[in-house]
Order: sequence, then C-alpha cells, then structure tokens
Amino acid sequence: MTTADLVIRNGMVVTPDAAFAASVAVRDGKILAVGAQDAMPPARETLDARGLHILPGAIDVHVHFRDPGYPHKEDWASGTAAAAFGGVTTVFDMPNTIPPTATAESLAEKHAIASSKAHVDYGLYGLLGEETIAHVGALIEGGVIGFKLYMGNTFGKIPSPSTGAMLEAFEVVAPTGKRISLHAETNSIMERRETQLRNAGRRDPLAHLACRPAVVAVEAVSRAAILAEWTGARIHILHISSADELRPLREAKARGVDITGETGPHYLMLSADDYARFGGIIRVNPPVREAFNQEPLWAALADGTIDMVATDHAPHTPEEKTRNDIFTVDCGFPGVETQMPLMLTAMNAGRMSICDYVRWSAANPARVFGLYPTKGAIQPGADADLAIVDLARSWIIDDAKLQSRSRVSPWHGRAVQGLPLHTLVRGRFVMRDRVLVEDTRGFGRSVHAIQRMPEPQPRNTDKTSAEIVRAGPSARPREHVA
Ligand code: NCD
Ligand code: ZN
Repeated sequence: MTTADLVIRNGMVVTPDAAFAASVAVRDGKILAVGAQDAMPPARETLDARGLHILPGAIDVHVHFRDPGYPHKEDWASGTAAAAFGGVTTVFDMPNTIPPTATAESLAEKHAIASSKAHVDYGLYGLLGEETIAHVGALIEGGVIGFKLYMGNTFGKIPSPSTGAMLEAFEVVAPTGKRISLHAETNSIMERRETQLRNAGRRDPLAHLACRPAVVAVEAVSRAAILAEWTGARIHILHISSADELRPLREAKARGVDITGETGPHYLMLSADDYARFGGIIRVNPPVREAFNQEPLWAALADGTIDMVATDHAPHTPEEKTRNDIFTVDCGFPGVETQMPLMLTAMNAGRMSICDYVRWSAANPARVFGLYPTKGAIQPGADADLAIVDLARSWIIDDAKLQSRSRVSPWHGRAVQGLPLHTLVRGRFVMRDRVLVEDTRGFGRSVHAIQRMPEPQPRNTDKTSAEIVRAGPSARPREHVA
C-alpha cells in the first residue's frame, strides 16, 4: 500500500456540497484520499483534527503586497505570512506596484521577488492601461493569472484608461481567454465631485463617501458589461460595494456575458455609521457605504450573483491612515488575515452555511480563474491546500498581532469566532499551531502554469481596431449575424 506523507485524522471535511467526518491523506503535495480513518493508508506523520474543520484553503483573488515599491507597507514575505495565518493558500497580487506590472520586465522582476519570498501560492495580475495594450502577449507569455484595469484612480496614481482604450484592451484580451478584473469606479464622476467638495472646504471622513455615490460604480459596471458583451472578453468585477451594482451584474449574467464578481467583509460588515469612529482608517475604494447595502450584498452572494469573497488587502502605515484631511489618507487596509475569521463569525451566527463559505472563499475563485479542481477542492488529485480551523474558538482581533506590516485596520478590537490553527500549501505546513513555518519562505509558486481557462469566445472580431486597420478600404461591411 502507498504510504502517505501525512494523514489528518478525524476532522470535519468541508466542500461546497457537504460537511462530513473524515480523514485526509496527503502525498507528494496532493490529496491522496478522503474517507474513513480505517481506510487511510499508513502515514509518515499524522495530525489529530478531532473537533476541527478541514477547509480548502481560501483563494483571495485581490491583494496588494506592495513589492516591489513600498516595503514599509508590505512585502511578499509579510503579505504571504498574513495569508498563511488567515487560512489563505493562494493570492492574486495587484499590479499597482513600482514599477507597475505592465511589461514583461516588470512582471519578471515581480516573479523573481515573489518566488523567493512567498509562503503561499500566488498569481500575478498584468496591468491594462491606456499605453500598455501592446504588452498583453508578452505579459501572458511571462505568466499572468489575468489582467487588472483601473476604471478609477486609486492608490499608486495609475491613470484610468479612456473607454476607447478599454474597448481595445478587451478586443486584445478576448481571444486569449484570460479574465480582466476591473476596479469599476468611473473616474470622471468622482474626480469632479472631489474637486467640488474640496473647494467647499470638506475634509471630513464622510466626504470620501460623498465623492463616490453608488452611481460611480453602477455606471462603471454597466459600461464594462457592455464592452465585455461586445468583445466576448471575460471580466470580473472587483469589490462590489453597493446594492445598485447588482442590477447591471444580474442583467449581464442573464445575457450570457462571462462576468463574475466579488465583495469583501468590509462591505458586508461595516457601514457609513462607522466613519465617525474610524476616521481615515476606514477610507477605502470603493467606499464603505450606507448600511442598507449590506443585506442585498449578502443575498447576492447567496443566490450566486456575487461569486466570491476577496479582501482587497491594501496595507498602509498608521501615519498614512490617520491624517486629518481625508483626501490625503491612503486608501485601503489589510484584510487577507482576517477574512476567514470574520466570515466564519457570520457563519457561526447563522448567516450562511459552512458549505456556502467554502464555495465563496475557495471553490468559486478557483473555477472563475481556471484553477479548479487543482485548487479549491478537497478531493483525490487536488493540491493539498488546506485550512484547519477551530470554529468554536472566540478571540479578539488585535492589529498589533497581525503578520501584515500594516498594523492598522477597522477590524481592531472586534470579537470573532473561528480561527485557522494550521495552514497547508501543497501538503506542507506553512502555519502550524499559529506559528509561521519560517523555512517555507520561497515555497510558494505561481499558479499561472496550472491555469486552464475555457475556450475563448471573442465576438465582433471583424470590427476590432486591429481588424479595421488591417482590412483597409476594400473591406465590405459584413451582414449582421444575430
Ligand atoms: C488599493 C491600494 O491601496 O492599492 N486601495 C483601495 O482603497 N482599495 C487600490 C485598489 O484596490 O483600488
Ligand atoms: Zn481595487
């Protein structure tokens, strides 16, 4: 009989369909067997998981690890240590670093850094900007998990592309099958409003929300959906913050657009009532909104309109988060380490089932980005990426104890129930008994090589910018085929 490297005994295994008492055998980084303890092969090592739940490690498709560029905020070692402590086994890193991840060279540089420091697996986003469309092919060759397009300005001062450039970017990416993740906030609306509010003397925390009413996001989601439908590009709407965005998202899904969405704990659990208490600490893009948005966002997760939770882990220092003028406060706060405890607390309170949670945190992100079932599943043949959690453990979030370099978040002092005790990546403990396994630094690897997106479905390919130029004056318009 094959000998396993590890058998995790007598836990409760959780999949999107069921939670059941079982043991899990691991060999060569993969899950070898899931079943009754009697049926497990002999093992070199065992872990007793009695009373604990074995979840697929979370896949957080939206983190900012700031490396290269802002080592005082975070780097690949501290960011992935935070992930390990949060039960997160794969992260997708955003391109607003210095330099932005927009060329083959900057991508290669980030791969070199990440592969030398990461404790967990990762994907890297390539940037789609006004001037970077020509780099799409080289970025894919260099190994990206997808693309990021900022429709609105945010940290790093990456200019948002015009609608014309956005359409062209979609035309170029559609035939590759890769997904484009969108920061869907329309820049011209919020920029204009911010100028007006500044001129009116506003500097208070709620001025941030006043600049960015939900229409900023609704307009952007709608426009992105139209361009995705026209080109056949696959898109993902990042950080859905409002109830009003759900209508264009639902409509686009109903029309067959390959559009997915994420929301995060801060939109589900914080509200406009919290600005007075937290000041600049709560400043994030898109903003935390009025409390009436929360129920529709939860309902959208439950009915599948929103596909997943992601954190937008956006670390900054206390000094950068506590300035008096809200418009000078850096946007975002850390989240990769606290997502699982926060969501499990909601689960313990009856908000959803544990199966729902792993669907939102692991299975769906893996599916949407072409990693399923190597990632996001507990079944034979899958990577042994596991979070072993104590659902009964009550504790208080303490920013000072976070692994992230950014020790400032609106979660500080919050009572939660549910704690990852051990995290395994491809069968290796990266966090064990709440201690980082130091020598797993550099163990994490890029998942782009295992990504399998469905067949590309480009549309209107005879009308792309490239094609109309190539065809020249002799081309005759084709009949419209519905
Ligand atoms: C992010 C950051 O700090 O990089 N900030 C934020 O408020 N969300 C940028 C982003 O995700 O848009
Ligand atoms: Zn973002």
